Amino acid sequence: NGKTYTLSNGVTIPAVGFGTFASEGSKGETYAAVTVALRTGYRHLDCAWFYLNEDEVGDAIRDFLKENPSVKRSDIFVTTKVWNHLHRHEDVLWSVQNSLDRLKLDYVDLYLVHWPIAAEKDGHEKPLIGADGKYVILKDLTENHEETWRAMETLYEKGLAKAIGVSNWTIPQLEDMAKFAKVQPHVNQIEIHPFLPNNELVEYCFSKNILPQAYSPLGSQNQVPTTGERVADNKTLNEIAEKGGNTLAQVLIAWGLKRGYVVLPKSSNPKRIESNFKSIELSDADFEAVNKVAEGRHFRFVNMKDTFGYDVWPEETALNISA
Ligand code: A2P
Repeated sequence: NGKTYTLSNGVTIPAVGFGTFASEGSKGETYAAVTVALRTGYRHLDCAWFYLNEDEVGDAIRDFLKENPSVKRSDIFVTTKVWNHLHRHEDVLWSVQNSLDRLKLDYVDLYLVHWPIAAEKDGHEKPLIGADGKYVILKDLTENHEETWRAMETLYEKGLAKAIGVSNWTIPQLEDMAKFAKVQPHVNQIEIHPFLPNNELVEYCFSKNILPQAYSPLGSQNQVPTTGERVADNKTLNEIAEKGGNTLAQVLIAWGLKRGYVVLPKSSNPKRIESNFKSIELSDADFEAVNKVAEGRHFRFVNMKDTFGYDVWPEETALNISA
């Protein structure tokens, strides 16, 4: 799947990216998965400091480039993200350099602020955990992201990242940023799948020239929501996949691409890594059928509020509509 988009600063970004969050977390799993992904043809890797596997991603990129001299570093789009405990100006700059060292790169293509939450650090390597077992929130930096964003702009100007952006930002937070940002965020990476179509936020981002990126585009296949039905169990979605001779994942990826944003499927299974990259064409009728499934839904699988001790979406929690 060679589809690309162009960010507001002119940078080209492949539409399908490979997610590197390793749920198993076992040593070597990320290296193996990224190697299969690069061999399959993925040219976009979505990483994060928090995934604690940038070393393995970096090893896989280095070895792949060595074995495939026709592919250049510049052919691969690499994203990584700064974690919550490193939001102070000098910490952001420490973090990007630390990620670059682990990835064995001299720039990333995209650097993101992972969550709109700033927390106290316990040294550079980990967040401070309070007596209640949760992160120690830095209120000022959480309510006003200007210091953090200035650091992002600094590393962008230095060329350490070809583009910068945010992740898990809400519309009010983006509106706030627009007031002080000299460089507007190029992307907002958020959870999107048919159970969380996120229409309002997606449309807002498009209207501001911020490209949305969908994480968990497959609807967190292994997670069972409190409502009982998994995305993978949905009858209509499965029928669309079966009648076209496609996998459900291929339908979900095609739906995201037809809506015009980046999709970031992840898998550690070589067969699924390969089939997820095989593009299928979703007919207008099937596209509308998936839209219909998505209509009125708003079920979030990823909300680390219990870990963070801070809820980005308190109005959803009040409605009990997240996992
Ligand atoms: P696996 O690594 O065993 O393939 P999400 O990104 O939406 O949270 O979902 C990722 C999960 O979906 C992973 O656990 C992954 O498991 C699974 N997955 C990825 N691709 C497919 C696929 N084509 N079919 C079924 N499950 C998939």
